[in-house]
Amino acid sequence: MTTRAEYEALVEELLAHDRRYHVENAPTISDHAYDAKYRALRDLEDAHPDWIVDWSPTRRVGHAPLSSFTKVTRETPMLSLDNTYSEEELTAFVERVKKGLEGKDAAFVVEPKIDGIGIELSYVDGVFTRGATRGDGTIGEDVTTNLRTMQALPLRLSEKITVDVRGEVFMNRDAFERVNAQRISAGEEPWKNPRNATGGGLKLLDPREAAKRPMRLYTYEVVGGRKIVQTHFELLAWMTSLGLPVSTDVARVDSLDALHASVKQWADRRLQLSYAVDGVVIKVDDLGERRLLGTTNRAPRWAIAYKFPAEQLETTLRAIEVNVGRTGNITPLGHFDPVELGGTTVKRASFFNWHQIERLDVAVGDKVLVEKAGEIIPYVITVTERGRDRVAIVEPTVCPSCGTALSREDGEVALKCPNALGCPEQRTRAIEFFGNRDAMNIENVGPKLVELLVEAGLVADVADLFDLTEAQLESLDRMGKKSAQAVVASIAKAKQNATLSRLLTGLGIPKIGEVWARSMAERYETLDALMAATPAEVQEALLLLHGWGEERARVVAAFLATGRPLLEKLVARGVSPSEPKSTATGPLAGSSFCVTGTLSRARGDIQADIEGAGGRFDKSVKKGTTYLVAGADVGATKLKDAEKKGTKVIDEARLAELLSGQ
Ligand code: IVH
Repeated sequence: MTTRAEYEALVEELLAHDRRYHVENAPTISDHAYDAKYRALRDLEDAHPDWIVDWSPTRRVGHAPLSSFTKVTRETPMLSLDNTYSEEELTAFVERVKKGLEGKDAAFVVEPKIDGIGIELSYVDGVFTRGATRGDGTIGEDVTTNLRTMQALPLRLSEKITVDVRGEVFMNRDAFERVNAQRISAGEEPWKNPRNATGGGLKLLDPREAAKRPMRLYTYEVVGGRKIVQTHFELLAWMTSLGLPVSTDVARVDSLDALHASVKQWADRRLQLSYAVDGVVIKVDDLGERRLLGTTNRAPRWAIAYKFPAEQLETTLRAIEVNVGRTGNITPLGHFDPVELGGTTVKRASFFNWHQIERLDVAVGDKVLVEKAGEIIPYVITVTERGRDRVAIVEPTVCPSCGTALSREDGEVALKCPNALGCPEQRTRAIEFFGNRDAMNIENVGPKLVELLVEAGLVADVADLFDLTEAQLESLDRMGKKSAQAVVASIAKAKQNATLSRLLTGLGIPKIGEVWARSMAERYETLDALMAATPAEVQEALLLLHGWGEERARVVAAFLATGRPLLEKLVARGVSPSEPKSTATGPLAGSSFCVTGTLSRARGDIQADIEGAGGRFDKSVKKGTTYLVAGADVGATKLKDAEKKGTKVIDEARLAELLSGQ
């Protein structure tokens, strides 16, 4: 028998754990223990629905889909910021501030300008009641139900106060990339930058969908300030103590030189953050001085944004290459006059699909604006000047590789070459994929060689690789005896080292990446066992495994039915791997992790989490280390070294997701 007081105490306890985990990055109990408490809470709420409080951790995704968002009108408008782009403009701002303060030098706080969506959160008696977007400043949209789903948003503050807090909702760069990869594979146009992806996430009508978007939050202002604190820096500390997430990448500077130095070091530093920043915000620290300076009707006079140079440049589209992907997707790839963008040379960018060419109304010979979205993929934003002799881009009707008529499935954006087995380009890409590091890891067999092998008719499918002889290889252009020996040895070695999960990954079964391949491999253990079952039996068995859905299981069964001859051919060549038994279970089973740089928690705690979830902890990156978890200040050499060893570099946020099984 539990009392209402005990229920309320359990809510308090879980809220404290939520805060330690999601805001302070310093949990004090295991996920397992947390889950047990969470379940206990849910059971109590099922038994006593009248006890439920709105700030209960179970109430994050408790709301039915909306049909539209209501408008919110605010008394204190959310202002914008004026921008500066150079040292001179920044100095001019500091001088304006000095003049406004009658000759007094102000101290400033320098904060990252996060490339996200500005929002206002309202707390009444400490309880989160409403959240709204900026909109036009005065009228915003009520996105409370979606904001509630974000774990970093406290549903209740540590004090029973009534305040409006402002901040930024954003997405980590790698989360942004993942969201985009999903969109591209679904034939949708990718988001342009993390801000748009976040905006799209907040505008989802179904909070269950919004909950799947990996959105984060930082808060940076309290409306009207607060009497007990005198400075912004103190305000941020107070906000932290309330349980609000506040960036720790904040510095106070009290001279012009220190300000310039701080802004300068951000140019490099921002590339090491897990989220995209498009500049820094410089704010007068003293709240009294802020009041003296006041605001215009657009922006405060006490703050300014310093924007990093736009990672956009103009160049000329010289040609369109029709690209054939591994799965037969036919996409337009633009070739441009090379431009330096965000530290790399860009000379190619995908248009993703043919509708995009139409939408941009772009032709060969046009001047276009190329951007690196969130410092990631380069792509064309717009045509800036039409070329005089522009050549229209025509969607191809046949595959450039095999001549097969192209088709588009009903309602799909993607144009496809349906000749999956016969198309040389698809075959080349598929064989290349088979040998990559995440799959069979065949050294010395790169894209160039695979192309030559397919062209020469020596290899038509992945199984043929295992028949290659030194003599055949030597017959290829520019292939000496030594190289031929090395290739044969690498293929033999890959056969030796193969595991069932690597083989399954390499086969490029639709919807089956490393994680699902491992899940299948752990279920069947050997290729023989997998092949001994009928496709229908496999389908049924996979559905019983964690996370598998109808569609994925169906796709695997279909592949096993049509791909059987290939599997038999592989077995005949001695490729019949098994999966090493992993004693560990848990979301990280089978993966190993190395940790480097400054992280938000003690290394020992992170190690405990990894091992607790079935992962292996490596002291240094070695061959076979799956992931390197990199803190903010990790050095370039470390990253290069990881890359060389085939280790994936991830950030702490991604580790948290992996730990939670995502
Ligand atoms: S202060 C009146 N601080 O940038 C002060 N804004 O371009 C305005 N932003 O609307 C907000 N990071 O959405 C502030 N550390 C930060 C920020 C930040 C990002 C956004 C905010 C604002 C926009 C102005």
